[in-house]
Amino acid sequence: MEPVRPFPAPQEGSLEERLERGDLIPLQPCPIPLPSETDRDFLYMQRLSGSKNINFNPATGAVSGFRRQTADQPARVQKILGNFSSAACDWIRATLRYTVTADRATFRPEEEAIRRLRITARNDLLHIDAFSTRPTNGGRLLRLFVNLHPTDLRVWATSETFAKLLEEFGAQAGLPESEKLTWLERILNLFQKSETASTPYDQFMVRFQRFLKRNAEFQEHARKTFWHFRPGTGWLVMSDGVAYAELRGRFALEHSFFVSSESLALPHLAPAVLLASTGKIPELTLPKSACAISQQHLSHQLEASARNFASSLADASG
Ligand SMILES: [Fe+2]
Repeated sequence: MEPVRPFPAPQEGSLEERLERGDLIPLQPCPIPLPSETDRDFLYMQRLSGSKNINFNPATGAVSGFRRQTADQPARVQKILGNFSSAACDWIRATLRYTVTADRATFRPEEEAIRRLRITARNDLLHIDAFSTRPTNGGRLLRLFVNLHPTDLRVWATSETFAKLLEEFGAQAGLPESEKLTWLERILNLFQKSETASTPYDQFMVRFQRFLKRNAEFQEHARKTFWHFRPGTGWLVMSDGVAYAELRGRFALEHSFFVSSESLALPHLAPAVLLASTGKIPELTLPKSACAISQQHLSHQLEASARNFASSLADASG
């Protein structure tokens, strides 16, 4: 077995500050109860049914992504991933001073080093995370991973922070063009609550993720820190704030969380705020905590505009 190199020395600051600065936090041993040995053996036998991972939605209890083999299999997958999700949510809420929304728990049965995926779906290329179907609306993405393999390491590389990547590649990737939004679109953005609606910020993050994966020069020459996670090790990372690649390993558990902008320790480092500092993102998509005064002022103006607009429509239809 190859020797495991020590993890890089931890940076200074609280856990929240380190996460928001782009640090990866190893959890060795993993503090979250993991599936029993028999449940792990059951998970090792699962195969994908065309999707990228096996998924559990904590909001609905729905499981998907596995190839159906037996009648009792869905309930067992649901129970194992549901237990992991509950334990992960409890630990995150007890450990971090964040307001979080649980997103999805996943089990990853495939070997990352040899998966055949289209380039923008590959995990083994350096990228930041952005979910095209589940926008954050400016909140941050926190992810918990666990190496569930019985014997093998899981190997990652981390690279530059979002701030550095934005400075170097933001313009090439295509910054949002706020001037193209009409006042009506800005008003609608303000009241946008739908989970599936996507803001200019979310659209940029997805575009930026794809840009980085397709950038061969960046993939080849970017600074990299390598991580070797032993079986049973967990790790935490805000994966919208630092580029990473999953280079090798199979059988991992993962849970993603949306972190409310208002609960961040270092809101000025949030990608939405950094993107706003380019002057290209509509101000209304900023987290409130990062621009409380200006946004509050603008929000009042826009709420008044929205009321006037609504009443003018009512007048017109009446
Ligand atoms: Fe990713």
